Amino acid sequence: MALPAFLTQLGELLDSAVESFKKAAHVEDLEKSRIEFLGAKQGQLKTVQKQMGGVDKEDRPEAGKKLNEVKQAINAAFEAAKERLLGGGDTTTAEAFDVTLPGETLTLGHVHPITQTIEEIKDIMGRLGFSVAEGPEIEDEWHNFEALNIPLEHPARDPLDNFYLAAANVAASDKTKSQNALLLRSQTSTVQIRVMEKTPPPVRIVSLGRVYRPDEVDATHYPMFHQIEGLLIDTQVTLADLKSVLRLFASSYLGEDVHIRFRPSFFPFTEPSVEVDMNWQGGWLEMGGAGMVDPNVLSAVGYDPEEVTGFAFGLGIERLCMRRHGINDIRELYKNDVRFLAQF
Ligand code: FA5
Repeated sequence: MALPAFLTQLGELLDSAVESFKKAAHVEDLEKSRIEFLGAKQGQLKTVQKQMGGVDKEDRPEAGKKLNEVKQAINAAFEAAKERLLGGGDTTTAEAFDVTLPGETLTLGHVHPITQTIEEIKDIMGRLGFSVAEGPEIEDEWHNFEALNIPLEHPARDPLDNFYLAAANVAASDKTKSQNALLLRSQTSTVQIRVMEKTPPPVRIVSLGRVYRPDEVDATHYPMFHQIEGLLIDTQVTLADLKSVLRLFASSYLGEDVHIRFRPSFFPFTEPSVEVDMNWQGGWLEMGGAGMVDPNVLSAVGYDPEEVTGFAFGLGIERLCMRRHGINDIRELYKNDVRFLAQF
């Protein structure tokens, strides 16, 4: 082939490639043009390049030089078009942003089953006339034991059965005297004391919150769990009132078909004391402890046991939640498995 014919072909190729890249309005158009002109196998540039072999030998250096110039110019035109459409992105992988696509819906989290239980229990007890009181999770020995008629030598104060705070342990050098050390509260009964210290009778409160015990973990025990404490102090309160309130509460939260039984028991701060069970998987599960507030406790907070009486109870919130929702293992509540939690 003569050199002028080859150069004419090169010129036409450059014109149509530049024109095609300029016209491309979308990334897809540009990609089509790139394949048409610059494609490695069948691209037009490749086809013209192959014809160089037919150019007269003495004209080949000139033909090669022109071919290179055209190649660079076509590549430059492609890069310019790419820059225009994508701001420098890669036409083969980048996707154009389609504003008409529907947006992604975000899944919202929701309230943990224990928090839901707490809110519902507060509602029920509110309807029975109990207001909500709060107390700290880090307590002193006075509120957790002493004022609850649990003296220094009582086994319930054993360091192995409580989460004493390290700083307080160091300070407790004289074991014969209470140092009023600090610990993570082991029961919400602490709030009974805090409320009675501040409020003259009558009292009618519930307090719901976390408590901590180094218990061995199994299907119904966890080292951190929640209790609801109830306290009612007035004139002429009897054990029959306590039983009515607990039965009413249980049937409101767990349903009319729940069975509740009371067993005689012992707590240092109530006399008489009972343990309350609910029917559970063909047997019974302990729901809580309760009783008539011991006169020693009333005196410790400055009440006159001759004038007022009252009852108190402390129930495990996880166990109530488990029975209500048919949860077999307390650990499920604290695994944070969204597939489990999303059911409530
Ligand atoms: C008490 O904690 C007493 N303060 C209850 C009380 C209050 C008695 C007022 C009298 C007057 P007890 O240790 O039995 O009692 O615990 C009460 C309930 O907490 C248990 O019945 C159970 O439902 C729950 N509970 C106890 N330990 C655990 C644990 N490790 N994990 C989950 N729930 C527990």
